[in-house]
Amino acid sequence: MPKPLTLTDPETGHKVDLPVLEPTYGTPVIDITGVPRELGFFTHDPGFMSTSACRSNVTFIDGDEGILLYRGYPIEQLAEKSSFLEVCYLLIHGELPTTSEWEAFQNDIRSRTMVHEGLRTIITGYRRGSHPMAMMVGLVGALSGFYHDALDVNDPVHRMRCIRQLVAKMPTIAADTHKWGAGQPFMHPDNAYGFVENFMRMMFGVPAEPYEADPVAARALELMMILHADHEQNASTSTVRLCGSSGTNPFAAIAAGIATLWGPAHGGANEAVIRMLSGIGSRGDIPRFIDRVKDRESGVRLMGFGHRVYKSYDPRASIIRDACHELLSNLEGTEREQPMFESALELERIARSDDYFIERNLYPNVDFYSGIILSALGFPLNMFTVIFAVARTVGWITQWNEMIGDAEDFRIGRPRQLYLGHARRDYVPTGERS
Ligand code: ACO
Repeated sequence: MPKPLTLTDPETGHKVDLPVLEPTYGTPVIDITGVPRELGFFTHDPGFMSTSACRSNVTFIDGDEGILLYRGYPIEQLAEKSSFLEVCYLLIHGELPTTSEWEAFQNDIRSRTMVHEGLRTIITGYRRGSHPMAMMVGLVGALSGFYHDALDVNDPVHRMRCIRQLVAKMPTIAADTHKWGAGQPFMHPDNAYGFVENFMRMMFGVPAEPYEADPVAARALELMMILHADHEQNASTSTVRLCGSSGTNPFAAIAAGIATLWGPAHGGANEAVIRMLSGIGSRGDIPRFIDRVKDRESGVRLMGFGHRVYKSYDPRASIIRDACHELLSNLEGTEREQPMFESALELERIARSDDYFIERNLYPNVDFYSGIILSALGFPLNMFTVIFAVARTVGWITQWNEMIGDAEDFRIGRPRQLYLGHARRDYVPTGERS
């Protein structure tokens, strides 16, 4: 056990010993829970830059070394050898499944892929041009109305049922939002297909024709989903935890996570990268664009670059960049994505040799190349963040389940504030105000 740190109030001389908690990996954490009680101070940490808000056994990131582990397994190994559904099992249950566990899990997920027809009625109430993320926020929250008999968050059996419902139904709901916008009939899941192939069929298939997923495309989507499955306490995951900490049902908490993910500083960045690449024009325009990014007055950011935790190369970005190379050389009909990929590589090359980006440790993040893959797979731009949400749902719900099951630390999340507003003052009637 590391020695506690001692904090002293210089005014009063009062001291408090702050235990230092030792993680498996990473930066040790000072337990400050005794500070308000012993010294009468809160701590101030905008953006939670320095604060650990929970104990977690799920995912580890080393942002300096570019390491990402799910339940201890390196992301590179899972990306190469595992499947998205197996990663779901790993995240939810903490271990890779045995043969019988794997069979049972797949069967259980298969049995839950359909959605209530009432959910589809809700979709038809959305305006045709609605952003699919707007529909996702509403529809996933609405699931709580359909499964209200299994929402006791204190019952582990109810929790596991909700977890599996979410994993199984997210691809169906996501595909439905696309079909509504495209004016095509909703596709029912066909459980003869694998999990990812079924998703592709519901997205790109039509009832009039048989659908066969291109194996190269299916593997690329599988990879994307594995890489997006969890990322410890990011903004959307922390939102799910905070929302769920009130004891609300998991569907409502995941809807809050989806809302958070939508923002361009988070999951919306993959969409923003494609808009940026399309807006830059030819490769010759890249240096001028980089100059605008470096000009703080312009407000332009190099989307898909920079990360709160990674101060080196995001390991997911390098896997996706390699996958991009492979996909674009093996998949037909990617003429539109080829020049985008070349522009992205050139942007990265210039940015990586430019002092502005070097000094600030700005490297490509997961979103820099992922939009190009999704575009090559045929996903429309407005579905990019939805794909992210489908994949991240397992991470959100695993973290939510971990929080609820944590007997020692589980309590409602309630940050404090540094109040800098008016001192107390008296109400003045309208006519007497100056
Ligand atoms: N382009 C240009 N400059 C940048 C960028 C960028 N993409 N990212 C950070 N910077 C600069 C900032 O202007 C700041 O410069 P300064 O020190 O001169 O003021 C410095 O780098 C630090 O930036 P912060 O915004 O303080 O870093 P923070 O850790 O808070 O933000 C974030 C991380 C939000 C991801 C940021 O890098 C960003 O906006 N990136 C673009 C959006 C993006 O790709 N988001 C996806 C993130 S991954 C994910 O959520 C899945």
